[in-house]
Amino acid sequence: MRLVVTGREGQVAASLLEAGRRRAGVEVIAIGRPELDLARPDMVIEAIAAAKPDIVVSAAAYTAVDQAEDEPDLAFAVNAVGAGKVAEAASRLGVPVIHLSTDYVFDGSKDSAYVETDATAPASAYGASKLAGEQAVAAASPHHLILRTAWVYSPFGKNFVKTMLRLAADRDEIAVVADQWGNPTSALDVADAILHAAAQLNDGKSFAGIYHLAGTGEANWSGFARHILDTSRVSGGPWARVRDIATIDYPTKARRPANSRLSSAKFASAFGWDAPDWRKSTETVVRRLLIDGTK
Ligand SMILES: NC(=O)c1ccc[n+]([C@@H]2O[C@H](COP(=O)([O-])OP(=O)(O)OC[C@H]3O[C@@H](n4cnc5c(N)ncnc54)[C@H](OP(=O)(O)O)[C@@H]3O)[C@@H](O)[C@H]2O)c1
Repeated sequence: MRLVVTGREGQVAASLLEAGRRRAGVEVIAIGRPELDLARPDMVIEAIAAAKPDIVVSAAAYTAVDQAEDEPDLAFAVNAVGAGKVAEAASRLGVPVIHLSTDYVFDGSKDSAYVETDATAPASAYGASKLAGEQAVAAASPHHLILRTAWVYSPFGKNFVKTMLRLAADRDEIAVVADQWGNPTSALDVADAILHAAAQLNDGKSFAGIYHLAGTGEANWSGFARHILDTSRVSGGPWARVRDIATIDYPTKARRPANSRLSSAKFASAFGWDAPDWRKSTETVVRRLLIDGTK
């Protein structure tokens, strides 16, 4: 089974490349800029066809949530038009596409975990561009799996876990938002889930639709930070005190949902795969980062 993933250096792409190296019968190829630029839709079909996928994983995206408020056209070009072209490329080749989307398609007003049938209402340009991407993917390919994930961290790329460890190395106290709730999700787990689902798609099973796929258990950002730093301390790494602050005390350009918890029950029952508890997965990534470094 040959998976072609978009975005070479991204957290999910890098995690899939690593997971693919460990699995017999699975080959993962990553394609990214310059040969695949999602902002240049004219080059997408050819670049994907040249990689000869059995399954396309559409993980590349414009992910700078705050910057997207200043350049919404670019965010839409990449996350909506570009994602649609990736799905069209897969469809033309007659292969399934697994597309990554986000919890930020929701506005956060629900007081429990979101399910796939809940109404979307993105509060940011990034969220709106990703929602438009879901619609473009679904329109371009009947054989699509849209996986909404959330709060992604990993040993790769830029993420919250790396930021906390870096800050703790030269501060005694870190102020972290305590009134936004979600599901911290390891990209290593997302990669595992994608390979699990891809094997079933490759066997011809059809599961078209939207699925939530996030770490088990919920947290707010400050609780997540405390667990990262406590794990670091017991493993001999840096530690700092975490001070709870409110979203209003940490203004950002993009509005983020107060609650973006996702229920992943539909994915678990369709594919027989459950995410580990976020605390366990966080411990795995923190320990790796303490050995490998946070650069
Ligand atoms: N990170 C999160 O917390 C989170 C949460 C929910 C959903 N998601 C979704 O999950 C997916 C994977 O996220 P991630 O954390 O792995 O993302 P990431 O680490 O930010 O990586 C994004 C990747 O997209 C590539 N990219 C950006 N613009 C591109 C363009 N115009 N053409 C081609 N490639 C381009 C980047 O390439 P360069 O290396 O060249 O910059 C990078 O490899 C994305 O669809 C994201 O929207 C992420």
